[in-house]
Amino acid sequence: MDKPTFDHDHWDRLWSKALREHADKIALRPPNAHLQTELATLPPGRALDAGCGHGAETLWLATRGWRVDAVDFSPTALACGRALAERAGQAVAERIDWIEGDLAQWTPAAERYDLAVCLYVHVAGAVETLVKRLAAAVVPGGTLLLAGHRPIDPATGAATAAANQVQVSVEAALAALDPAAWEILVAQERPRAIAGTGVDAVVRAHRRSHTRHGAPA
Ligand SMILES: C[S@@+](CC[C@H](N)C(=O)[O-])C[C@H]1O[C@@H](n2cnc3c(N)ncnc32)[C@H](O)[C@@H]1O
Repeated sequence: MDKPTFDHDHWDRLWSKALREHADKIALRPPNAHLQTELATLPPGRALDAGCGHGAETLWLATRGWRVDAVDFSPTALACGRALAERAGQAVAERIDWIEGDLAQWTPAAERYDLAVCLYVHVAGAVETLVKRLAAAVVPGGTLLLAGHRPIDPATGAATAAANQVQVSVEAALAALDPAAWEILVAQERPRAIAGTGVDAVVRAHRRSHTRHGAPA
């Protein structure tokens, strides 16, 4: 059987179907638990939500005062996010820029963001390439938060619901982040408590203001 391709058309069709059938449920989906745990005490600044989907995490950040560039290649997901942000009020909506872009090509400006988040995005190329591109967009002193579903449960060796998918892994993220420039605060595989099944790789890293050799990062 052919492997599914998680390309633009696949995702836009998926979002159209999901919103046609479950718009209310999607609007009520709480922001990601790792995001809330890891970032609750981070002071707001400028954030990138790469592969933002319908924007539950973008909205959480904007509600807490972050200015967010929310990037996704599905116009359907972005339209939903924009509508939810408007429903949340002008103060929240005007802190968000919804950007249609393909993360395989869309390259954020260097050192633009205090925070870059990328949660559960299926990567078409090498995970390291995406991580490096996102990492370069973070200012010295800033934060990178990544999560990906793991295809294999490390505890049992069994395939998960994300089998055959390429998402962020702890190994790939650590391979992409130069330890002289990045302090790794979290690099874990965590069972998905909410879903009740599956395993998430979670990486939170802090870009050093100076490299460990003393040079500016
Ligand atoms: C599983 S959803 C996750 C959405 C959101 N980050 C979350 O945690 O709920 C993956 C999202 O990434 C988007 N996506 C996948 N590949 C992408 C790419 N190459 N460029 C931009 N967006 C992409 C999809 O359209 C989809 O909205």
